[in-house]
Amino acid sequence: MALLKKINQILLLLLILTVCAILYNKVHKASSALRNEADDLESPKEMEEEIPVVICAAAGRMGATVAAISSIYSNTEANVLFYIVGLKNTIPHIRKWIENSKLKEIKFKTVEFNPMVLKGKIRQDASRPELLQPLNFVRFYLPLLIQKHEKVIYLDDDVIVQGDIQELYDTKLAPGHAAAFSDDCDLPSTHEMVRSVGMQNTYMGFLDYRKQAIRDLGISPSTCSFNPGVIVANMTEWKNQRVTKQLEKWMQRNVEENLYSSTLGGGVATSPMLIVFHGKHSTINPMWHIRHLGWSPDTRYSEHFLQEAKLLHWNGRYKPWDYPSVHTDLWENWFIPDPSGKFKLTRPDS
Ligand SMILES: *[C@@H]1O[C@H](CO)[C@@H](O)[C@H](O)[C@H]1NC(C)=O
Repeated sequence: MALLKKINQILLLLLILTVCAILYNKVHKASSALRNEADDLESPKEMEEEIPVVICAAAGRMGATVAAISSIYSNTEANVLFYIVGLKNTIPHIRKWIENSKLKEIKFKTVEFNPMVLKGKIRQDASRPELLQPLNFVRFYLPLLIQKHEKVIYLDDDVIVQGDIQELYDTKLAPGHAAAFSDDCDLPSTHEMVRSVGMQNTYMGFLDYRKQAIRDLGISPSTCSFNPGVIVANMTEWKNQRVTKQLEKWMQRNVEENLYSSTLGGGVATSPMLIVFHGKHSTINPMWHIRHLGWSPDTRYSEHFLQEAKLLHWNGRYKPWDYPSVHTDLWENWFIPDPSGKFKLTRPDS
């Protein structure tokens, strides 16, 4: 009898132990599941996609590059990697500027652009020689300069970014499109500008329709142009379509046949892009490319409109580091003085 009682007790104890073991396992699994979830939540942050932003640093206007970078960096939490493209002799200056200012925290690489690649591809007779600066053509060679990334943002140096650059990076490119741009007639305010200052916003403003080669393209001269100062590009597609080769071909043809319009509203880099990307580009939200702030020293946008803008572009002659210029305060907010003192703002009272 006593033996049976003993066996019963042992069995009961075993049962209790088993239940305990099962319960422990359940709880433990649940807590480790929680932990896994937490791990999952954390990992996207660690492997957060890098956003490559390509921007040029040209001698004499490096303050523009610095202001643009500082505006981008200050308005995002994203993991931005700046590719700063310069000529051999300009790179040490911008490097010092960044390393000796609050920009020293940014992630950046400097890339040297060799202007020899442009040999024989640029006509030297344009009315605005500043537009022939070799760095204007950097955007044609993006896949050669940036190898590690599929999706890339290119920005002109005369921009200020007020929004989160992640939003621009998330611009969708349609299948088969190598790039996205902003169309020149996408905003009503642009229409006013076109009327008031005679701005060009069609293909006719960039290409000489008296030339057979241009007429043979079969593009209506009244087609809206686009501005390649802000580009979101797909390097895989760019390489597949040999976009760089196509652009070079039109540069060469222009040297031989003078194909660009003499009025050339927006610069020599625009015309070949209008040809190569005609009907083959996606669009950027217009608020991510508010243009023409440098078009005239008297034409201003409303303050309210500019507050809503995500990106401001001073394309045109009147640059915000020079005088006269408009909406200069919006640019100067982001400017960081040159620690070497070489770059100086031009101001009426200085
Ligand atoms: C880029 O283009 C390639 C080839 O068309 C495509 O497979 C890829 O999904 C595109 N990537 C992006 C980010 O649009």
